[in-house]
Amino acid sequence: MKRTHHCNELRPDHVGQTVTLCGWVHSRRDLGGVIFVDIRDREGRTQAVFDPSDLPPETFHQAEALRSESVIRVAGQVRRRPAGTDNAKIPTGAVEVMARELAVLNLAEPLPFQIDDPEAAAKVNEEMRLAYRYLDLRRPEMIRNLRLRHKVATATRNYFDEQGFLEVETPMLFKSTPEGAREFVVPCRTNPGLFYALPQSPQQFKQILMVAGVERYFQLAKCFRDEDLRADRQPEFTQIDVEMSFIDREDIYATIEGLLKRVWKTALGVEIPTPFKRLPFVEALNRFGIDKPDLRFGMELGDLTEEFRRSAFKVFSGAVANGGVVKALNAKGLACATQGQIQAMTDIATGFGAKGLAFIKVENGEWKSPIVKFFGDAEKAALTQKLGIEEGDLILFAAGEWLTSCEILGKIRLFAADFLKQQGRLNIPPGRFEFLWVVDFPLLSFDREQNRWYSSHHPFTAPVAEDISLLKTDPKRVRGQHYDVVVNGVELGGGSIRIHQPDVQKAIFEDVLQIPPEVAKARFGYLLEAFRYGAPPHGGIALGFDRLIAILCGTPSIRDVIAFPKTAKGTCLMTDSPGAVEPKQLRDLYLELKGPKKE
Ligand code: AMO
Ligand code: AMP
Repeated sequence: MKRTHHCNELRPDHVGQTVTLCGWVHSRRDLGGVIFVDIRDREGRTQAVFDPSDLPPETFHQAEALRSESVIRVAGQVRRRPAGTDNAKIPTGAVEVMARELAVLNLAEPLPFQIDDPEAAAKVNEEMRLAYRYLDLRRPEMIRNLRLRHKVATATRNYFDEQGFLEVETPMLFKSTPEGAREFVVPCRTNPGLFYALPQSPQQFKQILMVAGVERYFQLAKCFRDEDLRADRQPEFTQIDVEMSFIDREDIYATIEGLLKRVWKTALGVEIPTPFKRLPFVEALNRFGIDKPDLRFGMELGDLTEEFRRSAFKVFSGAVANGGVVKALNAKGLACATQGQIQAMTDIATGFGAKGLAFIKVENGEWKSPIVKFFGDAEKAALTQKLGIEEGDLILFAAGEWLTSCEILGKIRLFAADFLKQQGRLNIPPGRFEFLWVVDFPLLSFDREQNRWYSSHHPFTAPVAEDISLLKTDPKRVRGQHYDVVVNGVELGGGSIRIHQPDVQKAIFEDVLQIPPEVAKARFGYLLEAFRYGAPPHGGIALGFDRLIAILCGTPSIRDVIAFPKTAKGTCLMTDSPGAVEPKQLRDLYLELKGPKKE
């Protein structure tokens, strides 16, 4: 009674055999009294034929009454399809099963949406797909994504095992260490009034595992962050988390390049070249306006600070006089941009606090722009030469503080590339992957609102050794031993060499980050203490596993590669969570609810 084959197995070689298949009714067609049922399982589908002249009437009537997605078992003989009726689109398309027996294991009710037609399924709104996720996951693309995720997880575990790493699980119930993203807190019944927090990452545990002498750790780790959600962000997500002792940055680069090589080979059969390029943070910003540049296309930013230092155009010379820069971008061939598009780009600039976005359209041999009249010949010549200006180009400027000016044009560069892609003027082949390491990040960034320094990565990142003396005198110039691995404009992962000396760590917390000693002790005391009892030099990295799988699957949203993702509001539409709890549960936890404050 069990199945003899899966639904993607039968070929002309099987003709004449009696087989049993189990699966879902993918489609049912009634053609002049003969019923064709495509039966589908995880592997694929096979056509079964119910011929009334050949079957007991009850069996035929059962077949007539079948509804889409009912679960059935069909037994019968494999035969070659009649000439001209082969279906070249499916691997089993040369044969069919002449049904003899049919068992309806579960008759499905009419479906909330159709899943048998890929085009129709693609149009179903995502909320519907999430509410009925088990139906959505039956679609071949979704099964493919889950399968690929599994394969990559297995390849990852094999790779690290071969390299002598141990997978160690770390707790999900951790304590609140409010430094990074907002946390999810969990009340603790046995200690009334106290809370656990779900870990944002296993960062501190993996460092303590190094103190414990594990030397090489990895984990496919669940992480939790209460952030604003986007296509590439979920409140719970998975990291490939790694930590190693007695190593430097080169060891991390080599280990991760080896992993990604293995993963790309396993998942896509593609050989990716290593070592990856390396780009210092400052250069990434100067050339691409972003710390995760997409290197699949050019359109690099130019710097015209020197050329405009003494310009008659005060917006530019004034910015330089204030210690700022003048950056420009040649959006190749975009002189045709509409008023709306120019406005969208200006909105990007004003979103960063700029007063506006100066631009020049190069049309009919003329520079069309209200500001060109202020430019001297030398300035024009410098622009033409540095930006390679030609007919049809659109030149955009950002003048002001260095980081902001770079970031404005970085965003506009991506906007322009999207537009050119839509117009078919920028073609990036789907199988192209541009990996790089972004290195030499500043250890610290300054928060103007709070008037204090904070860690660019996290407070455990070690400064570059020769910059340590600058910590007191010129903090902004201290580079961190932090690195990000980037592919096609996506930040795949990040990590750092850590501080392993308790005095340096304490100085970072207290002197640089201005965390009062008692607060540092309460939050991180155990880590500082652990470092006093034999801490090896160590470092590590974490890769966003969901982002990795999304890139391999060629989908823009990590929701497509997570079996049960949350919506942008952090809800699960299938189980309707989060949900209320019983008053008794609250009493047990010594919690009382107040309604949200009215503004
Ligand atoms: P970081 O915070 O950079 O580093 O995270 C590492 C990688 O995890 C992915 N990621 C996410 N993916 C989905 N949803 C999210 N909300 C989300 N947030 C992050 C990104 C990111 O590059 N403990 C350090 C690592 C280390 O220093 O070793 C850490 O967590 O791809
Ligand atoms: P204004 O002299 O203020 O009218 O500005 C002249 C042009 O410069 C306008 O097109 C503004 O949009 C633009 N502009 C103003 N501030 C900046 C800036 N920081 N960077 C680039 N362009 C700017």
